[in-house]
Amino acid sequence: MLKRTLIAASAISLSAFALTACGSDDDGGGGAEGSDDKITMGFAQVGAESGWRTANTISIQEEAEAQGIELKFTDAQGKQENQISAIRSYIQQKVDVIAFSPVVETGWDAVLQEAKAAGIPVILTDRAVDSEDTSLYETFLGSDFVLEGERAGEWLVENAGEADTNGDGTINVIQLEGTTGAAPAIDRAEGFATAIAADPSIEVTASQTGDFTRDGGKQVMEAFLQADDTIDVVYAHNDDMGLGAIEAIEAAGLEPGKDIKIITVDAVKDGMQALADGKINFIVECNPLLGPQLMELAKAVVAGEEVEPRIVTEETTFTQEQAKEALPDRQY
Ligand code: AHR
Repeated sequence: MLKRTLIAASAISLSAFALTACGSDDDGGGGAEGSDDKITMGFAQVGAESGWRTANTISIQEEAEAQGIELKFTDAQGKQENQISAIRSYIQQKVDVIAFSPVVETGWDAVLQEAKAAGIPVILTDRAVDSEDTSLYETFLGSDFVLEGERAGEWLVENAGEADTNGDGTINVIQLEGTTGAAPAIDRAEGFATAIAADPSIEVTASQTGDFTRDGGKQVMEAFLQADDTIDVVYAHNDDMGLGAIEAIEAAGLEPGKDIKIITVDAVKDGMQALADGKINFIVECNPLLGPQLMELAKAVVAGEEVEPRIVTEETTFTQEQAKEALPDRQY
C-alpha cells in the first residue's frame, strides 16, 4: 500500500525544501498507524553541500530500499529550522523511528523531547548534538571528527620540513572551516590544533568558514591569497573546500600541492583524484556509507533492543601514492 519512489540524490539537491516522502503519506504515516508491519523511518538530511553528503544520501536511500524500510526523506538545505520542521512532521506522522544528521550541534533539546514524549526513538547519524540529556536519542553512529583533525595535524608535523614552502622556518597554515557550529567544523579544528601544538613552527594564521562547499572554499581562498603571500599550507575541513581552494590557487598562478600544500578530509572521488594528481598532499578519510549500519540500528531500536550508545565509523588516511592505488575501486 505504501508506494515507494527512490529519489535520486541529484534531484534532491535541486528540489526546494519539502517534506519529501519516499512513500505516499495517504495512510497518515508509519508503523504506529499503518496497516503493514514495514518500519517507517523519517530522515532529516543536512542538505547537498558536498560530494560526501551526496554519497551519504545515496547510501541511506539504497539501503532503506534493500532492507525493506519505508523512508521519508527531507533535504533541509543547510537550515536547522527546516530540520526541526521535518522532525515535527515525522512525529505527527507517527513514524517508527527518526534519524537525522544535525546541521549544527546546539538547539535540539525541545524537538527531541517532543519525539521522546511521542515514544519515537531517535538515531543520530554522522553528526552529534550538544545536549546534556543523552536519553533524547538511542545512539550516535558516525565518525570521530576530533581524531580526523588530529590525523591531519599529525601528518603536517611529520612533514613539516617540506611544508615550509617559503623556507622561512615557519609554517603558515590557513584553515577553511566547515559550517559554523557544525560538529565536524568544531571537532576538526580542535583535533588539528591539538596535534600541531607539538611543533611551535606551525601556526594557523587565518581561519574562516567555507560552509563545506566548493564555492565557499574558492571564495575564502581568493581573499586569503590577496591578503597574504606567505601561505604555506591549506587545511580544509572537507575535500570540496580544498578543491575550491585549488581553483583559487591556480587562478593566482601558483601550483597547488607544491607552492602551497593542501590537507583535506573526506576522501571522495574528486578529492582522491586531486590527491593522485599531486594537487592535494594528504587526505583524512571520513566514510559517508552509513546506510547499512543505520538501517540495522533502526530495526534494533524499533524492536526495543538495547544498542551501543556510540558507534564510531572505521576510517583511514591517504597519501598521494595510496590514492593512486585506491582510486580504481573507490565507490564514491
Ligand atoms: O558531517 C560530515 C561532513 O559534512 C563532511 O566531511 C562534509 O563534506 C560534509 O558536508
